[in-house]
Amino acid sequence: MGVLVLFDLNPKENVHDLYDRKAELESLSSSLKNGERLIIIYGLRRVGKTSLIHSFLNKREFPYILLDMKEIYHVSGSVPMKALYNTILKEFTKFAEKVGEDANIDIDDEFRLPDLLKEINEWCKSRKLIFIIALDEAQYLRYGGKVRYDGIIAWGVDNLSNITFILTGSEAGMLKEFLRYEDVEAPLYGRFRNEIYLKRFTKEERVAFLRQGFKEAGKNISNDELEDTIKNLDGISGWLTYYGYFRTIKNLEHKKAIEQVFKDGSELTLKEIETLIARSRKRYTYILRAIVEGFNTWSVIKTYVESKAGGVSDTVLNSLLQALLKLGIVEKEQDDRYVILDPIAIHAIKKLKP
Ligand SMILES: Nc1ncnc2c1ncn2[C@@H]1O[C@H](COP(=O)(O)OP(=O)(O)OP(=O)(O)O)[C@@H](O)[C@H]1O
Ligand SMILES: [Mg+2]
Repeated sequence: MGVLVLFDLNPKENVHDLYDRKAELESLSSSLKNGERLIIIYGLRRVGKTSLIHSFLNKREFPYILLDMKEIYHVSGSVPMKALYNTILKEFTKFAEKVGEDANIDIDDEFRLPDLLKEINEWCKSRKLIFIIALDEAQYLRYGGKVRYDGIIAWGVDNLSNITFILTGSEAGMLKEFLRYEDVEAPLYGRFRNEIYLKRFTKEERVAFLRQGFKEAGKNISNDELEDTIKNLDGISGWLTYYGYFRTIKNLEHKKAIEQVFKDGSELTLKEIETLIARSRKRYTYILRAIVEGFNTWSVIKTYVESKAGGVSDTVLNSLLQALLKLGIVEKEQDDRYVILDPIAIHAIKKLKP
């Protein structure tokens, strides 16, 4: 039995443990070498954003701190500047100590983030370092209350020559709406940025990923099982990893492992969806059900939702559908049909109660 690497359920932390993503790693490296100051990584849930960023940062080509905005949000129900200030300060101090230096930051009683960033920038400049501030799940920065983090980031991108921001977000539309770099009125308008879209694995990649994981674990997977797995679980790395974990570590047979991915995965997804749609649960639920049942054009969704939940104006339905798109739960096809691509999410929605 080999060492568990590919089918480890935790986000990967090392490029050697990461399956492929070479182009994305290369793009990150070259952005930094070219002195680009803003990089954004988009990707659906469980496609491997955290793994990519962790693994890249762990190559230690550049000093960094990595913070999870979702974590700060969950602690406070918002992202207060004080919390962000303290977290960045703590992590930066830790980094400085690790390299045997003193962070030497004057603590500001008012927790002004730009001042802290300026000090970090100066510190790095005098040592000729490019420093990465990586913010995972950055769409949560929109919960800054009166604090405009998009403005602070834009200011940083303009003025801090030795800091590069890397942002990731599983709610691509939400992150874009927060950054608003196409809006002339917005602080980040027109700023140069490298946008990386992390895609789901192709068919070939799914097969190769599973084969490699089974090989590492010293186990076999038959061609039929392979076919069945990639057909059922699609190209989302997280679900393929779950499957591999149940097969190799938990020793489940193929059918049981698939069932278990649907069971555990849909429980997790159901909780996530419930949180995201809490504000208008009943209508969202019927919209999602309509789409899952194949009633997926705008007018058919409207008829379906109205038959279940009573009258809904065009404007309301539009804004609810837009929100689902921005959250990355629903996607819109070329022919204007709304679809849900994640098979586990489809399973979860069937269990969703209005
Ligand atoms: N390229 C990869 N190689 C190996 N394992 C991967 C890869 N991408 C993702 N995984 C595995 O898939 C799962 C999900 O990955 P990760 O947490 O990095 O995704 P994410 O996009 O950050 O998800 P979330 O939206 O939930 O934050 C983890 O178990 C991780 O180990
Ligand atoms: Mg993540």
